[in-house]
Amino acid sequence: MKYILPLCVFLLLINCQIVLSILPIVIWHGLGDVCCNPLSIGGLQKFIQQQIPEVYVISLKIGKTIREDFENAYIKNANDQVEFVCDLIKNDPKLALGYHGLGVSQGGQFLRAVAQRCPDPPMVNLVTLGSQHQGVYGLPRCLGDDVKFCDYVRSLLNHGAYKKWIQNFVTPAEYWHDPLDEKAYKKASVFLADINNERSVNDTYKNNLKQLKNFVMVKFTKDTVVQPIETEWFGFYKENDLNSTYTLQDSQLYLEDRLGLRAMDDEGKLHFLQVEGDHIQFSQAWFKNEIIDNFLR
Ligand SMILES: *[C@@H]1O[C@H](CO)[C@@H](O)[C@H](O)[C@H]1NC(C)=O
Ligand SMILES: *[C@@H]1O[C@H](CO)[C@@H](O)[C@H](O)[C@H]1NC(C)=O
Repeated sequence: MKYILPLCVFLLLINCQIVLSILPIVIWHGLGDVCCNPLSIGGLQKFIQQQIPEVYVISLKIGKTIREDFENAYIKNANDQVEFVCDLIKNDPKLALGYHGLGVSQGGQFLRAVAQRCPDPPMVNLVTLGSQHQGVYGLPRCLGDDVKFCDYVRSLLNHGAYKKWIQNFVTPAEYWHDPLDEKAYKKASVFLADINNERSVNDTYKNNLKQLKNFVMVKFTKDTVVQPIETEWFGFYKENDLNSTYTLQDSQLYLEDRLGLRAMDDEGKLHFLQVEGDHIQFSQAWFKNEIIDNFLR
């Protein structure tokens, strides 16, 4: 970054402007999915490449094989996954001038962690689709081909999401948010409570997140996978009350601006979009008009 930019400005002003205006895109898939399935993320990647012909798009594979990628989404510690991705992004010369992040489901909160922890190269826009920014309380439906594996994970979560060995072994436990025991969540959550600055305010996280130009959160109004749906817009269940939820704007996180989201909102950087449909169900036309045209090119 340090060397390439001045060189650009100095030598190849016009070419560089073209290169700079087409930022690469990094996609992080969700639970029950893998990097390159042509019926899901692989198809989305291809669609983006058709819409923006010169764009470089990578769909992250967490591990060496597709099987590892599938399993790691369930059982690799989220902090380790984020570190793995930070290294990958830092070592990819094609991303050196910055990139847009597109996170699907849990991949969304993981990419937010990348923005907060690894500011170089910079993420410019972050788009999250049905992500769990305030965590989940419930995993009502297993997705993907291997329901048995998912059921096993679910039984571990029911067994005790905040037990130390489960925290470090079951990925969704690391964004498990129990509104009936906020104290346990804040104390035990090794991933989400940390990136949401619940225990203390890490100014690095705050400053890095504020570097984003746009932070787009897409909520699926008929989502049957994520509980509660409000988490997709950074809201959650009220403490000790599973019958009502609060919005980001009503949360302590926002009112105290512990993460910089309030400042970002004031600058018009936050975008709350919704799609009428179940988890990650959208049309290509919607994705092109609302996401690609506004935030990925
Ligand atoms: C804040 O986050 C940064 C980046 O992950 C980390 O290096 C640092 O130790 C954290 N600071 C505190 C006080 O936790
Ligand atoms: C939620 O509402 C139901 C009835 O709609 C009630 O029986 C239950 O006690 C309520 N739960 C809480 C935690 O308020």
